[in-house]
Amino acid sequence: MRVHADVRRITGLRDAMIYGQFIEHFHRQIYGGVYDPGNPLSGEDGLRGDVMQALRDIHVPVLRWPGGCFVSAYHWKDAVGPERVPYYDKAWRVEEPCTFGTDEYVAMCRSMGCAPYICTNAGTGNAEEMSDWVEYCNLDKEGKYARMRRENGHEEPYNVRYWSIGNENYGTWEIGAKSPAEWGRFTVEAAKMMLRVDPTIELSAAAIKDTDWNLELLKNCGQFLKWISIHDYFDRPAGRNEPSDYETCMGLTADIGASVRKVRGLLEAMGLEKQIRIAYDEWNLRPWYHPGVMDVANQSADKSFYLGERDVNDRNCLYTMADGVFTACFLNMCLRNCDIVGMANFAPVVNTRGCIFTYQDGIVLRPTYHVFYLYTNYLGDKVLDSWNEEVPCTLFPAADGSTVETDLVDVVVTAFSDAKGIALGAVNKDPEKEQELVLDLADGAAEGDEVVVRYICGASKDSYNDIDHDEVQIQTYTAGTYKAGMTLTLPAHSVSVIQVGR
Ligand code: AHR
Repeated sequence: MRVHADVRRITGLRDAMIYGQFIEHFHRQIYGGVYDPGNPLSGEDGLRGDVMQALRDIHVPVLRWPGGCFVSAYHWKDAVGPERVPYYDKAWRVEEPCTFGTDEYVAMCRSMGCAPYICTNAGTGNAEEMSDWVEYCNLDKEGKYARMRRENGHEEPYNVRYWSIGNENYGTWEIGAKSPAEWGRFTVEAAKMMLRVDPTIELSAAAIKDTDWNLELLKNCGQFLKWISIHDYFDRPAGRNEPSDYETCMGLTADIGASVRKVRGLLEAMGLEKQIRIAYDEWNLRPWYHPGVMDVANQSADKSFYLGERDVNDRNCLYTMADGVFTACFLNMCLRNCDIVGMANFAPVVNTRGCIFTYQDGIVLRPTYHVFYLYTNYLGDKVLDSWNEEVPCTLFPAADGSTVETDLVDVVVTAFSDAKGIALGAVNKDPEKEQELVLDLADGAAEGDEVVVRYICGASKDSYNDIDHDEVQIQTYTAGTYKAGMTLTLPAHSVSVIQVGR
């Protein structure tokens, strides 16, 4: 494949928040994940020092919390101050100890150097509880909740900028699910109260690809929104632990931008595309595995059944180069749509299907972690309008038993606002064969510029990392100096970031 790009043709500046992350009070993401008081690897704040450092190393720009389905029966006041009130979490059917609440979350964001993004309870909660939360976090001295924060030992406001009204209140699985008409009314009342407390916050609200739901939301609350929140877990069947094989996962990349295309069209039809951006604030190739709780109809009564099953998510062998390659394709899609996708949050960041696995004595960095490391450390912020010739493609299996024609190579070209040089995010989806990439970078690269390639590929398409088992590591080599028309070789099942003249 030949890729053409010219630094004078700029698609836009990507918002670093497309490399965002999500963490939920589910299984071992918080307790036993990032928050593990008493573990020798944890600091006095109870946060795992090794996890915090790994998150700093991928420059997490924003972290969405506390859910997800969990939030739709969560009352934030139970988890602040000296008296924490444990309660039965009806979303995930376990006791929530409340020892990790708003204050601990903000402290974690500060430790990681990232922006907090709070998702509020639009299930059993209401506009007043949401606006009280904004008051607790953002008002300085006036108001009883700002005073409560100060009494809890936190003098200065947290200045939480990003807030979401609700999670997936469109789904029957969500506590407090609503109709499109109910959602339209609910969101506008919540927005009014939250903005009355702090008019500088940026509001998002739960949305989907469905037009009725989004039309009611945007007609009623569009004037108050800066973001519209969408979610996708691409592999099927959701809710069952039957992860698709590598080839089927590659077929899922064929139209990876479908949701963005639909929501973009709706925003443009309503003239809101300059005001509202897309927050893809939950996404992952793999749906989380939690049988017996999402669908009330077949809810398992046996706690020992559904709790034990959740440990299946901890099997590191499930997260292979399919996950790494898919993740790079998703980030490339966000970069190409940087004019309207301003945030994306990998779901989740720690444990479950996340990019970091924790155990008592350390962490495992899964293939997806290395993709975030490559993209956040070596790609540029200016996305160039590139185009390709002789794109190889093939038919990959589709989940419904058919096949789907899929490009085998996916490339995005970037430049840097603060310095010269070009960086390409290049993916070879081929399960067996390496692919050639011919560079034609016009004015972006000068003859003689050094070309450095950093990539992951593993020994096979099914390579994974685990405790004392490191198959997927970043490798680096210098591919000589740039010459228009030079050819690089992309290994099979690989993700590469190629820097020219940096
Ligand atoms: O599987 C996890 C759940 O997926 C999240 O809690 C929810 O937001 C989404 O449905």
